[in-house]
Amino acid sequence: MAAVLQRSVSPLMPSNRHISVLYDAALDAMGVREDGCYIDGTFGRGGHTAGLLERLGPSGQVIAFDKDPTACQAGWVRFKGDPRLRLVHGGFETLGAWASEAGLSGQVDGILLDLGVSSPQLDDAERGFSFMRPGPLDMRMDFTTGETAAQWLARADAREIADVLWRYGDERQSRRIAAAILQQRDERPLRTTADLAALIEGIVRRKPGASHPATRSFQAIRMHVNRELEALESALEQSMDVLADGGRLVVITFHSLEDRIVKRFMRQYAEPPLPPVPAAPRPEPSLDLVIRKRRPGPDEIAENPRARSATLRAAERRRRR
Ligand SMILES: C[S@@+](CC[C@H](N)C(=O)[O-])C[C@H]1O[C@@H](n2cnc3c(N)ncnc32)[C@H](O)[C@@H]1O
Repeated sequence: MAAVLQRSVSPLMPSNRHISVLYDAALDAMGVREDGCYIDGTFGRGGHTAGLLERLGPSGQVIAFDKDPTACQAGWVRFKGDPRLRLVHGGFETLGAWASEAGLSGQVDGILLDLGVSSPQLDDAERGFSFMRPGPLDMRMDFTTGETAAQWLARADAREIADVLWRYGDERQSRRIAAAILQQRDERPLRTTADLAALIEGIVRRKPGASHPATRSFQAIRMHVNRELEALESALEQSMDVLADGGRLVVITFHSLEDRIVKRFMRQYAEPPLPPVPAAPRPEPSLDLVIRKRRPGPDEIAENPRARSATLRAAERRRRR
């Protein structure tokens, strides 16, 4: 694994640049206390983690997770020597088990999830996230494990592929694209981002001013390969056991399905209940919504176009007495 972790890590790589989305809003929503204990579930290039560390005193601590070995390596270098940070290579969907093993269940003052991919991941052609950069069709955030996009597209049936493109990408041509993938792979497997982008461009018409025809399909396949929505749902549920009384849950989403999951979760636990009230009895314990919704302003979107689809929601954990 050490050899794998060496891959494509260079502190000088231009792809190391990542502008944290909703930076101030996220840190304010976390309500950082100097001696608090915080989890950054999506370390990325450590932008939000750095902000947390700046607001913490010497006895504060941050536990950060990232599935991406490259992100962790860059973080271990950048924050070497700061004993307040523990950066774990792993999925945030393991935070409940991790906190329980560390004796931190019910004691964490804030959890931040800034979902999706980082700019360095998109910029590195070798990762296969971008249709703009020719590279292997990989798309795994954790490239040490699991199935690549190419492997999935080589074995899935047409219905499964079309479902993913439709569900996660809202792709109207999902069935045609799926059929074309099956036809093409009989002749030659889809191995690169360029192979897939060219296939989609042959089916979805490029409209002036609209995003690239492959945008939606790439996003959908990435979400499927990384089981992104499943990880989010699981982490939200676990957060209720991990957060202390008064602890904050702050989530930045980039996709309407992610935002819907977060909104529903916070409404389901909201105290007092918010309309529409879920049919099922309200589960204990409860959450107070501290920020219902925050979007980036025009200045932030101009500086960082990736922010345009971001939505932040935050809630505070209340334990019933
Ligand atoms: C948008 S970036 C986070 C950027 C970060 N907040 C910053 O300021 O630098 C999202 C990061 O979350 C990671 N990620 C996505 N899903 C994850 C998961 N289930 N567990 C751990 N990390 C995940 C990705 O690998 C990526 O590095």
